[in-house]
This record gives sequence, C-alpha cells and structure tokens, in this order.
Amino acid sequence: MKILVTGGAGYIGSITVERLIKAGAEVVVFDNLYQGHEDAVHPDAIFVKGDLADKTAVETVISAHKPDGIMHFASYTLVGESVEKPFMYLRDNIVNGLNLMESAVKHGVKGFILSSTANLFDDPEQMPIAETERIVPGSPYGESKNILERNLYWMDKLYDMRYACLRYFNACGATEERGEDHDPETHLIPLVLEVALGQREKITIFGDDYNTPDGSCVRDYIHIVDLAEAHILAMNAILDGGESRKYNLGNGRGFSVKEVIETAREVTGHPIPAEIGPRRAGDPDILIASSETINHELGWKPKYPELKTIIQMAWDWHQAHPHGYTK
Ligand code: UFG
Repeated sequence: MKILVTGGAGYIGSITVERLIKAGAEVVVFDNLYQGHEDAVHPDAIFVKGDLADKTAVETVISAHKPDGIMHFASYTLVGESVEKPFMYLRDNIVNGLNLMESAVKHGVKGFILSSTANLFDDPEQMPIAETERIVPGSPYGESKNILERNLYWMDKLYDMRYACLRYFNACGATEERGEDHDPETHLIPLVLEVALGQREKITIFGDDYNTPDGSCVRDYIHIVDLAEAHILAMNAILDGGESRKYNLGNGRGFSVKEVIETAREVTGHPIPAEIGPRRAGDPDILIASSETINHELGWKPKYPELKTIIQMAWDWHQAHPHGYTK
C-alpha cells in the first residue's frame, strides 16, 4: 500500500512511518518542519516539505503520488497553547485538515486516518473512557479534532472515503532510532528525563490536590510503537473494505505524575528532584482509555504496557540523542 503521512517528521508521525516501512508500505511524508525534524524522516520514505495551508502544494503531492491512504498527523497539538491561541487551533487545524480531505476525495483516496485525542472527553461519566462516552471537548485543540472527526463523517457519507479516528491518550516512549523532541518541550516524560540528563534542575508536579490516590494527575501512557501499530491495523481494515470507525487508544491503566517520576528514578538511577507547583489550567484528575473496541475488532493489544519499559526505551533514546535530532 502507498500511504501519505502528513506530519511524518514529527514524533508520532515519524515512528509510524518507521513501522509502515517495516511492514512493506510505500510512504510519502508531507511536513512543513514547524515542529518536525527532517532527520526523523525514514530514509526510505519520500519527503516533501510543504504546508497543508497551501492548497496547491497539497493537491500536487496527492496527484503526483496517488496514495491509497492518508494518515493525518500534522497539527498543532498543545491543549494549553490552544486556550491561549484559539484561532490558530480552530482555524488552522480545521482548514488544513479540510484542504487535505478535499484533495483526498478529488483523487479517490480510499482511507483516511485522523490523529484525534483524549481531549474530546473533558467530563467523562465512566472511567475507563469508551467510545460511547459523550464528547465534551476540553479545549479549542480538542474542539478542532472533534470538528475534523465530524468532517470525516461527511466525507464517508458523500464520497465513500472511509476513515478511522484514533483518540490518543498520552503517547510516549521511543524506538532505537526515533524519539520525542519538541521545542518547547511540555510533556512530562521527556521533561523528567531532561532532569536525569542534567539539563534541568528539577521537575515541577502541577498540583497535588487532585482527587486521585496520591493527589497528582493520573494519565494513561501508551507506547508510541503500540500507537503506530494501531494506525497500520486500522488502515488495513479500511483498505480491505471495512467500515469507518473510531477508537480510543491507551493502555487501559493509569499512572500518576508522582508514579511516573518514581519510575524514572528507578530507570535512570538519578534522584530527579521534584517540587509541587500550582495546577496547570485544564488538567482533569484522571484520564484512562478503554481500548476494548479496537482489541475486539482488530485484535490490537499493547505490546509495551509496562511504564518501566516505556520510560526505559525513552531513556535509551534520550541518552543517545541528549539534544534531540539536530545537535
Ligand atoms: N505535568 C507535570 N509537570 C510537567 C509536565 C506535565 O506535572 O512539567 C503533568 C500534567 O499536569 C499532566 C501529566 O503530567 O497531569 C501529563 O502531562 P503531559 O503534558 O505530558 O500530557 P497531557 O496529558 O497534558 O497531554 C496529552 C497530549 C495531548 C492530548 C492530551 C489528552 O500531549 O496532545 O494528552 O488528554 F490532547
């Protein structure tokens, strides 16, 4: 199969490209390198530098390569930033996604996978969170993904383009060759590992008065390779003639911020000093996914459910690339 991967130079995109190539797919990466790194693009993938806001560039890459499917990772992705810059998220994420969908239907692309988010579930009634949970976007970022999910419904209904929306919980970990390198970094595990590398004095725990066993927030940390494999399974299912679908993707287990830091201490052997700081706006107490639907329908099961393994793999990558891709 030939797959166009937008955002294929980014963290989740580049590792999915690595797994796609390993599975024998032909891959074209389309990325503007706003957050991505050219060095993260697998050498066997065709790399096209371009911006989804540029309709001509999108049209050109799709008409030139005629992919069977598209995996759409390219997006602004920070919940907190989206509250400060709602127009950037609500306009750019949605318009860029629509530019891509419009060219996709024009050129008869058969399958489309959207990177969606746990931020659709700001006020869950059940934990773990299943696909039946009501959608309450927690931020303009979550809303932008909600609208793209709705747009895909119409692409399916009107143009027979099948889709899968994959709602990620907390993506983390690394492969031997690719890992997490954001600028600025805001995610817990890479920040904790920066402390262990001596690049940061301490980690701040954003609040210890949540309604959780140890007071710090509980999240569902899912290994990036497990996430990548879910994309490949979902794309195969769609291209084999299956229906459109939506899946929540996580480990099904929650770990608190304090547990993450403690596990990182064990893995790295570094004391990782931590202090309690104020809450970060918009953080719910607990987010845990139920991934029963994808397990039942596609046989997906996390291969790396252990937090220790996830942090060990991230640590190996960070030690080998202490300054990320570029330095
Ligand atoms: N945290 C700290 N200190 C830090 C950084 C994070 O205590 O220095 C805490 C956060 O408050 C949160 C947990 O660690 O409780 C995880 O935070 P991350 O920033 O690593 O991840 P988020 O849960 O905020 O965000 C992730 C994805 C988003 C997605 C969201 C869905 O990065 O794209 O999950 O809930 F939208």
